[in-house]
Amino acid sequence: MSHVLAAVAWPYANGPRHIGHVSGFGVPSDVFSRYMRMAGHDVLMVSGTDEHGTPILVQAEKEGATPRVLADRYNRMIVEDLHALGLSYDLFTRTTTRNHYAVAQELFRTVHRNGYMIEQTTQGAISPSTGRTLPDRYIEGTCPICGADGARGDQCDACGNQLDPIDLIDPKSRINGETPEFLETRHFFLNLPALAEALGQWLRAREGWRPNVLKFSLNLLDDLKPRAMTRDIDWGIPVPLEGWEDNPNKRLYVWFDAVIGYLSASVEWARRTGDPEAWRKWWNAPEDSGAGTTPLTYYFMGKDNITFHSQIWPAELLAQNGDGAMGGRPGTFGRLNLPTEVVSSEYLTMEGRKFSSSRSVVIYVRDFLSRYDADALRYFIAVAGPESNDTDFTWSEFVRRNNDELVAGWGNLVNRSISMAAKNFGAIPAAGELTQTDEAVLAAVRAAFTTVGDLIARHRMKAAIGEAMRAVAEVNKYVSESAPWKLKDGGQVEKARMGTILHVTLQAVSDLNTILSPFLPHSAQKVHELLGGTGVHTPMPEIREVEDLDGGPSYPVLMGDYTAGVRWESTPIESGRALAAPKPVFRKLDPSVVEEELSRLSS
Ligand code: MF3
Ligand code: ZN
Repeated sequence: MSHVLAAVAWPYANGPRHIGHVSGFGVPSDVFSRYMRMAGHDVLMVSGTDEHGTPILVQAEKEGATPRVLADRYNRMIVEDLHALGLSYDLFTRTTTRNHYAVAQELFRTVHRNGYMIEQTTQGAISPSTGRTLPDRYIEGTCPICGADGARGDQCDACGNQLDPIDLIDPKSRINGETPEFLETRHFFLNLPALAEALGQWLRAREGWRPNVLKFSLNLLDDLKPRAMTRDIDWGIPVPLEGWEDNPNKRLYVWFDAVIGYLSASVEWARRTGDPEAWRKWWNAPEDSGAGTTPLTYYFMGKDNITFHSQIWPAELLAQNGDGAMGGRPGTFGRLNLPTEVVSSEYLTMEGRKFSSSRSVVIYVRDFLSRYDADALRYFIAVAGPESNDTDFTWSEFVRRNNDELVAGWGNLVNRSISMAAKNFGAIPAAGELTQTDEAVLAAVRAAFTTVGDLIARHRMKAAIGEAMRAVAEVNKYVSESAPWKLKDGGQVEKARMGTILHVTLQAVSDLNTILSPFLPHSAQKVHELLGGTGVHTPMPEIREVEDLDGGPSYPVLMGDYTAGVRWESTPIESGRALAAPKPVFRKLDPSVVEEELSRLSS
């Protein structure tokens, strides 16, 4: 049993999330967390909405709202969408809580006290036409490192390097095309060069990472420069130092505070569950936290977030621990663990194009779920998502996978086995003596617990669901070949043999339902009930309206009690338990859906 932190990327509260977003951070982290809990680990899954920085300001301006109103609006919408997907967060909160402000400021103070925040004069871009500061990512030009066009002031997507706007060749404002002016301004820079050795040591000791994520992260080590962690902006967390705190135009950089959200959300969760120090078991060494084992910490995201999780966040942690070249000592949170693994997905595209809200190449989670079931989307993402390659979502492939695999494979097995047992026995029939074939199919399903579980634990979700569906196919084959329906009009012996076959099949269905539950939690609960089960099989998150713990405004969170569910093991079914004729759990989609959705996309 380990303490396992599932740290899930924080979506910006600047709009509804589309299916590309949730295929990167959402479904993979939930499948993993659900499985790890079922396998007996103590999982803490945290995240929230990311509510500071330019992305929020720019959208607020577009919608004619204050940043606070905008963040409230989309925080709620995102909470509802993630809830509808069944994502089992222990806490999904937001970065505008007082708790988060306090934790982020404490970390800044410690990093500063340890000597890793250097104050420097720098050139800040402003828009000549408005006189306002122009955020890095709203400046575009040629990359000074690789020469690619369209590099942004903060980062070049072509070579992955972090940039400073002033270094761009021929910089232009992305808002109105004008050439920015650069003026002197003071900022705090995280001294990455002073952390380079410690970062390298940590990163080079990583094992089992996806090769492309590790390679990208190691590359970043070659070009470590101090990075500004404050901004000229009036929306964000005040810089907690004398002379800065009261300056309304200086704030912490959104990425500095967002990654700290993993820690602040863990602290908030602990405070809300009545044991305010409980978060330490997922963050401190076992000798400091009283946990039995070193916690394992996994960070889930899309690939545009890798830099911040394999470089900036570990650097913040090393600096607060006092583990860089200038030494130092931990602050009030104690020595904090660095990530065990940064689990990053690649991109999902939509019918061959990049998702784009402005060009309406997009399908939002809520629109999707208004027409299709959450588990149908979860299945598609698990089996065909962008796990380690860029991957295309097409409606025809979605309909095909839904109909041919989910409905015709798993749905059909559930449906025909339960109907036949209900109709002929009205209950789960007792098993007589088992043949070799019966034993073999049960053994194949039991073996799947190990193969599927190991794959999920190593973040090979696609292979994992592939193995699970292979076991489904084996059981379908067993039913077809044993042909229990042929025995229904026979004598006592035949009828008893029919009962045995159906008992074996229902045992297999019950176990497969356990194995599929991390992927398909909504239907797993239903199948459990169709098998005559009661109580919680697959726990679900709840939306709770909570008070801010330190006197701020109230807000919605996702939380849940996930201790009650089924365990990751074969559980014997009870002969004689009453069965009713099942309602279909999965919906077959009419092929006309494809045309319909494509015309929606182009309109
Ligand atoms: N808001 C960022 C994005 O959508 C992700 C932030 S992840 C965290 O790209 F690490 F900062 F929390
Ligand atoms: Zn470049």
